[in-house]
Amino acid sequence: MKIIGIETSCDETSASVIEAKGGLDFPKFKILSNIVASQIDIHQKYGGVFPSLAKREHVKNIMPVFIKSLKKASILKKGKSKFKEKEIKKILKKEPDLLKEIKWLSENYKKPDVKALAVTYGPGLEPALWVGINFSKAIQKLWDLPIIQVNHMEGHIASVLTKDKIEIPAIALLISGGHTEIILIKKGMKYKILGQTLDDAVGEAFDKVARMMSLPYPGGPEISKLAIKDRNNRKLGNSYNLPRPMIKSNNLNFSFSGLKTSILYTLKKIPSINQTVKEEISREFEDSVIDVLLSKTESAVREHKTKTLIIAGGVSANNAIRKSFKDFSKKMNLKLLIPDNNLTTDNASMIAMAGYINTLRDKSILLKKPRMKAQGNLRIKF
Ligand code: KG4
Ligand code: ZN
Repeated sequence: MKIIGIETSCDETSASVIEAKGGLDFPKFKILSNIVASQIDIHQKYGGVFPSLAKREHVKNIMPVFIKSLKKASILKKGKSKFKEKEIKKILKKEPDLLKEIKWLSENYKKPDVKALAVTYGPGLEPALWVGINFSKAIQKLWDLPIIQVNHMEGHIASVLTKDKIEIPAIALLISGGHTEIILIKKGMKYKILGQTLDDAVGEAFDKVARMMSLPYPGGPEISKLAIKDRNNRKLGNSYNLPRPMIKSNNLNFSFSGLKTSILYTLKKIPSINQTVKEEISREFEDSVIDVLLSKTESAVREHKTKTLIIAGGVSANNAIRKSFKDFSKKMNLKLLIPDNNLTTDNASMIAMAGYINTLRDKSILLKKPRMKAQGNLRIKF
């Protein structure tokens, strides 16, 4: 079946069309289109994502991104659809600009040949989430398409499903700008959170450390580039003796704010933060993060006799992290699944894939008209 995905939880507006088949043991996917409009340039000035600006950009981008995605997947059908003005107006009462766009859509296009529309309803920035939700509700009214509501973090897990089968039990390490979680995946793609960060997420720590060294937002890719240079220059890096927070705690939780503070104090003592310092700090910060991530993941893998390890979320794009987990998986005889580069940061294909998984878990989901609300702090639970 074909599913359209919509993602607007943070600073990427994305729409995708996927073709999905297979059961929960081995779902198979083909990505027909995955269009992402990034707002990075806009938020860079503020050094982080600004919710009301993010919302404004989503409103501006969502229709062009949606049309582009349907066109690329060759499912866009010229024609007209009945514009149910009263009902659609009610859905979009706070988004008059979107109302105009939906009217335009009704005057130019017919319902495409898809089974459902999957949309992120949390976690994320609520003003941003609402844009995707209300847009999807309006499309549902216009084209009579069922909506599948999707948890963004389940989307990150699903992002590896284009690669290979997940052998159960599996452990997913989700590392993004908003989350750091270790999740156990059981039969039937049922999830349980085993551990999470008590303060900053890994990506957030990357972004904050980057900011301390006056690097642009998002800091992850910048730190990553600097660290590679240092890895090429110095064999071992231990000039700064950074802490490995909670590495010895008897649980699977994380904490990264102490590491960030320790870097702040380290930097304060250095008279000139030149390029070499930035490279060394970046590498040593990465080393510290990797040690903690590996140690916690190893405990989870041993305890649950895991067969597959999934590393997903924006930070999984990091080269040193990828390499460390490749070596670790070899040593532990694990199947390692990391998303392709275009699926590591936020995108709508992963939302459509997670939407399909939701329909396999609960067939009735497609018939329901969920009274969806944005849930900024939504958690994975089964
Ligand atoms: O998953 P994502 O796109 O958005 C959230 O759901 O948060 O993750 C974004 C995060 C940012 O903090 C960014 O700095 C980080 O992923 N990131 C990286 C790299 N690329 C992106 N962190 C470390 N190394 C990278 N190469
Ligand atoms: Zn994300």
